[in-house]
Amino acid sequence: MRVLIADPVAEEGIEALRAHAAVDVKTGMSRDELVAAIGEYDALVVRSETKVTAEVIAAGKKLQVIGRAGVGVDNIDVEAATAKGIVVVNAPGGNTTSAAEHTIAMMLALARHIPQANARLKGGEWRRSDFMGTELRNKTLGIVGLGNVGSEVARRCGAMEMRIIAYDPLVSADYARNMGVELVSLEELLQKADFITLHTPLTDKTRGLIGARELARVKPTVRIINCARGGIIDEEALFNAVEGGKVAGAAVDVFTQEPAKDNILFGCDRILVTPHLAASTAEAQAGA
Ligand code: MLT
Repeated sequence: MRVLIADPVAEEGIEALRAHAAVDVKTGMSRDELVAAIGEYDALVVRSETKVTAEVIAAGKKLQVIGRAGVGVDNIDVEAATAKGIVVVNAPGGNTTSAAEHTIAMMLALARHIPQANARLKGGEWRRSDFMGTELRNKTLGIVGLGNVGSEVARRCGAMEMRIIAYDPLVSADYARNMGVELVSLEELLQKADFITLHTPLTDKTRGLIGARELARVKPTVRIINCARGGIIDEEALFNAVEGGKVAGAAVDVFTQEPAKDNILFGCDRILVTPHLAASTAEAQAGA
């Protein structure tokens, strides 16, 4: 059994695989290099960087399994893999806590202008009155997607005395109620939320879920967080909404094109950005 690990994964994971198979770690391969190499391997392990396209899958003559160290499988052509009888597996729980904590860090950073205040103070400006913030307590949090991460965000934000509503057509009202969350329509969530956080996978159904039409329905004081996947929210529409005063601020960890080198969102001071860091903790890397 030969395993190719094409993205960085924790040493513990590599050692566990080595107990059962011959493992090669080759990260940063180009698409052509991956296509040329994959024919030798029975299993492929990736994170989000490597794109496992239909071309890669077709070249994987011996391939039996594609392991996604992490949650989102949007970088893998699951349909092409399934058609060839190749199993795609992920690690759905490994980075849940880290992703939830990063979301809350983004929410607090937005509410209290922490990155901007940090930059101004280090630039020699003591400007307390420029950074009037808002409390999370008694605010309405709208969670789009009440899966693993959305649920953990709900639990934590409940402890911060937020009122929590969620839109998720796939979960029951009972599941939500047991967490102190009220299930609502997307329309109602957009209209009522003071903070909106996205926690859906990127699929054909969720691509562009939040666009100009949706952003026209929110409160002008709303702050939006996306630590799920680029593409769920339309980046240009978000930029225009924040610049145009229709949305108070946004915090974005994930981008339509990654690595994101020159994204439209970088041009707005009221949009905080981090480079897909939600799962970047020692615990999550080992767990996934
Ligand atoms: C995930 O889907 O697991 C996270 O976004 C982290 C990653 O892409 O590696």
